[in-house]
Amino acid sequence: MTIIDIDFGRLYREHALAAARTPKPATAWDARASEMQHRGRQSRYAEAFIARMDLTGAATLLDVGCGPGTIGLPLAARLERVYGLDYSSAMLDALRANAAERGLANIEAIHRAWEDDWSDVPVCDIVVASRSTNVQDMTAALVKLDSKARRRVYLTHRVGDRPFDGGAIEAVGRKLLPPPDYIYIVNILHGMGIHPRLDYIESEYRLAPPADFEELARRIAWSLGELTREELARLRAWYDRSPPGAGETGAPMRWAFISWEKL
Ligand SMILES: C[S@@+](CC[C@H](N)C(=O)[O-])C[C@H]1O[C@@H](n2cnc3c(N)ncnc32)[C@H](O)[C@@H]1O
Repeated sequence: MTIIDIDFGRLYREHALAAARTPKPATAWDARASEMQHRGRQSRYAEAFIARMDLTGAATLLDVGCGPGTIGLPLAARLERVYGLDYSSAMLDALRANAAERGLANIEAIHRAWEDDWSDVPVCDIVVASRSTNVQDMTAALVKLDSKARRRVYLTHRVGDRPFDGGAIEAVGRKLLPPPDYIYIVNILHGMGIHPRLDYIESEYRLAPPADFEELARRIAWSLGELTREELARLRAWYDRSPPGAGETGAPMRWAFISWEKL
């Protein structure tokens, strides 16, 4: 067997299924929109992302899974038009509110999911997907990004897994396979005849310890889905034995920054 025999797109799909990280419904992100609305502003992550971009010859940008506009908004003054695509209507409201606050009139929101028909999504000079590639079919997502880009594509995807909440997930009793990380993307692109550049961004954002048990339970449910009564009881017992201290803020998040030029 050689690497040519490996279908990385299929491997990714099987890994995503086995990791049981089924994509969240838009309502799950709606609920986080107001919390995220201001967090992205001038974050070091956004600065690091933007510093790695080349806008030469670019007038338009499509920001896929744009959230509150973390990448698209700071760039809008240098472009004619920025399109923010997201399936969460509350995220798009946050995008519009942030654009209005900055006096930007060249932002357009597109209410769409990765999985929807994109035939009317405009082709743009630059296409970006920042921390938004948690999809079930990565090959389809990459084909879509590539097909909408005239000049360059930039995306970030997780590196490995991020151990957080100091053992709480183990306490619940579930064995979690880490979700598929960026290495699949590099290999899928290679199979598409695309040889991307690769860099890394370390995000300064660390999880603060949960304020109380309810917050911890909410966070764990965000990662694992709804907990059973028994799982909740195990988590409660763990929390009561050793409530996470101020020092336990988890590891920094590492993102692979993957980019390619259109020929
Ligand atoms: C972690 S946030 C990233 C937001 C922003 N790009 C950033 O880097 O700060 C993920 C975003 O992807 C969006 N998203 C998740 N799954 C999606 C899907 N299937 N289709 C479209 N957008 C999706 C969410 O609504 C959310 O706004």
